Order: sequence, then structure tokens, then C-alpha cells
Amino acid sequence: MTKQRALLIIKPDGVQRGLIGKILSRFERVGLKIIGLKFIWANEKQIKDHYPSTEAWFKKVGERTLTNYAKKGLDAKKIFKTDDAVSIGKTVKQWLVDYMQQSPVFLVVVESFDVIEIVRKLSGNTIPVLAAPGTIRGDFSHDTIDLANEQSRPLRNIIHASDSVEDGEKEIKVWFKEDELFEYPRCDEKFMFGRQ
Ligand code: PPS
Repeated sequence: MTKQRALLIIKPDGVQRGLIGKILSRFERVGLKIIGLKFIWANEKQIKDHYPSTEAWFKKVGERTLTNYAKKGLDAKKIFKTDDAVSIGKTVKQWLVDYMQQSPVFLVVVESFDVIEIVRKLSGNTIPVLAAPGTIRGDFSHDTIDLANEQSRPLRNIIHASDSVEDGEKEIKVWFKEDELFEYPRCDEKFMFGRQ
């Protein structure tokens, strides 16, 4: 098995609420190796490049939103003026582009085995009100899609975590040069993963 990498972004709600240290420690204590760190004020291009602009991504985001509205008996057309999933996805992306520039963001690249599974597990459900206690989103937030959309804004879900190895590699390239990522041993690696 080989190690994989994932990108985490502590978003403006996490940064502005002073949660950077608490969040970072959750990834460190489970044994993920931090190989890159950056605190920057992102620009529009970086955010546009980070979130995909494919029809498939817009559709996924739009459909998830529509499903959530249907479950609650709400009318998506009231907010979005359309029930077309792709158009809804495009609106959400524009909200993200604006929101992610409201304060600096804290970027982290972590590396380990099964890293995607671990960062998703620790982050919790994308929709904070559905995130389990013990997860970052579950412990520090309880925002909902309907409240967010009523205010024409993205979910305040504190953290972005890559959702596949391929997406993670693409995202890392948006924010980091290869020589900004470091290889070094952590003292607990041999006890966590080494042969006896
Ligand atoms: S995930 O967790 O990446 O699979 O989430 P995904 O469903 O792909 O959504 C992508 C990002 O868009 C945000 N989002 C929304 N914000 C506000 N309103 C609605 N309806 C909505 N749908 C999706 C969501 O927070 C995801 O941001 P990241 O940075 O990936 O968490």
C-alpha cells in the first residue's frame, strides 16, 4: 500500500472563529502527517480553480440541494428561481468564490494511508446539522442548507476536505508548488504502521 495525500482548507468561518489550532490537532493526533501548510488570502482565480466547473460537479451539488429541499418540503424555486440542478450548482459555486475571499484561509496538506477516508470521517457530513458529534462539523457547527440558501451563501461547514485521491491531487496543485511539500519522518510512524 502507498500513502496518499489530501487537501484540507479551514474556511473563513473556522478561521474567524479562532478554530485553527483545535482543528489541526484533530488531524495530527490521529497520525496524519502534515506535509504542507499555508495561511493566505485567496484570490478569485484560485477558488475558481479549486472548485470544479464541470457539468457533473454542478449537477451533483444542485441535486444534493434539491434532495434536501424535497425532504423538508421546501421549494427550491423560491430561492434559486429555477429547479435545474446545474444552474443551482453554478449559483452555489459563485457563493463559494465570494465567501472564500472574506478572510484568510488556512491550507493543509496531509499524507497517510487511506487518507481520504480519514479526513472525511473526521470532518463529518458536508451539511453541519447532519454531521455526527465527535466530527469537526458536528462539534463546531449546525448550519443547514435552507438557512444558508435563504441568505444566499454557502454552507458554513468550517472545513473543506478532498473527496477522492484524484480530486485531492488536483486541489493540491492549485495551492502548493511541489517544493512546498515536505518529506520527513514522524516519530510514531514505526509504531503505528511499521513491521515488528
Ligand atoms: S462535498 O463534501 O465536497 O462532497 O460537498 P459537495 O456536495 O460536493 O458540495 C461542494 C461544496 O459546495 C457547498 N454546497 C453548498 N453550499 C450552500 N448551499 C448549498 N445548497 C450547497 N451545496 C453544496 C458545500 O459546502 C461544499 O463545499 P466544500 O468546501 O467542498 O465543503
